[in-house]
Amino acid sequence: MKLFDVYPLYNVTPVSAKGIVVTDDKGQEYLDFYGGHAVISIGHTHPHYVKRLEEQLHKIGFYSNAIQNPIQEELADRLGKQSGCEDYNLFMCSSGAEANENALKMASFITGKSRVIAFNNSFHGRTSAAVATTDNQKINAPINKQQKVTFLAFEDLENFKIEIEKGDVCGVILEAIQGVGGLDEPTTEFYQQIAKVCKDNGVVLIADEVQSGFGRSGKFFGFQHHAIQPDIISIAKGMGNGFPVGGVLIHESITASYGMLGTTFGGNHLACAATLAVLEVLESENLIENAARLWHYFKSLAETIPQVKKIKGRGLMLGLEFDFEVSELRKKLIYNQFMFTGGSSNKNLIRFLPALNITEKDIDVFFEGLKKELAP
Ligand SMILES: Cc1ncc(COP(=O)(O)O)c(C=O)c1O
Repeated sequence: MKLFDVYPLYNVTPVSAKGIVVTDDKGQEYLDFYGGHAVISIGHTHPHYVKRLEEQLHKIGFYSNAIQNPIQEELADRLGKQSGCEDYNLFMCSSGAEANENALKMASFITGKSRVIAFNNSFHGRTSAAVATTDNQKINAPINKQQKVTFLAFEDLENFKIEIEKGDVCGVILEAIQGVGGLDEPTTEFYQQIAKVCKDNGVVLIADEVQSGFGRSGKFFGFQHHAIQPDIISIAKGMGNGFPVGGVLIHESITASYGMLGTTFGGNHLACAATLAVLEVLESENLIENAARLWHYFKSLAETIPQVKKIKGRGLMLGLEFDFEVSELRKKLIYNQFMFTGGSSNKNLIRFLPALNITEKDIDVFFEGLKKELAP
């Protein structure tokens, strides 16, 4: 059997990794400034993470959600405290798309309605409702296109109000900082206004923190830069530092009932151990503060590069926009400078999504490599 060929691949075969250094099968080392789509939050094979998972594996790796699972409760308690979201309850699943799928389903259950408002350039995953709220027709099959979704532009409050007042909207979903779309973000004013309109009209506000959550933006959640309170928050990626885990934080004003949501794998013992390890390292190494601090350092160096037209994002969820397409530049960064970076649907933008424990020195090395490839 061969692999179903859906991924265009770079010619690199990593066999081991530590921190932000990834080593390939020929012994070549690469610096990982992308974290495998913003997943590696505390660094590859972090010793505490490895120990926590190893210990858990020797005890019990998995049981379904039919038994008492104290480690899931420990995780919910710690996540609530550390994120400042103690007035939410946690439902665990295994990926970002699944998190958004459950968030959208909850919005529909609660309101009894089905239309969703999403935003231009959004990416929320590839499952049924999640992909329907993703602004990319190419990855929506006819089965997905049956969903009722209206896409609006950030800052278009007038049309937002018009759509909500039609009375058939169950939920509004948005990324505080767009990931795949290219690091655009709503203003605080817009975010606060839509939160108010949602509240006034009984519409569920969903913050998709799959990419921006777990400290990446320099606060635990991206929406916390805007002082709003979503009804549901979806999480994944950095949450497990590579272990496939996701979840939804559901405001305690929303009541659960047996069978409303469910999954076989979500919240298993290993997934909880991985997430607890991430939370412990975020705290013990002050990684959210590090992300906030390094943002300013990154910007100060990016500003010295004339070809950079715009610096986007927050914390260590950053983008550099050029006035040319960057796919060739990114290839050169991989094959000549041995550095991984990310692309986005904005073809002129390089995404920088490293582990949150990188240092100023790592950023220096990134800009030295970038300057070499930009030199005429
Ligand atoms: C903001 C956002 N939401 C959801 C997803 C989907 O997550 P997953 O690929 O784990 O299903 C992604 C993935 O890139 C994302 O960036």
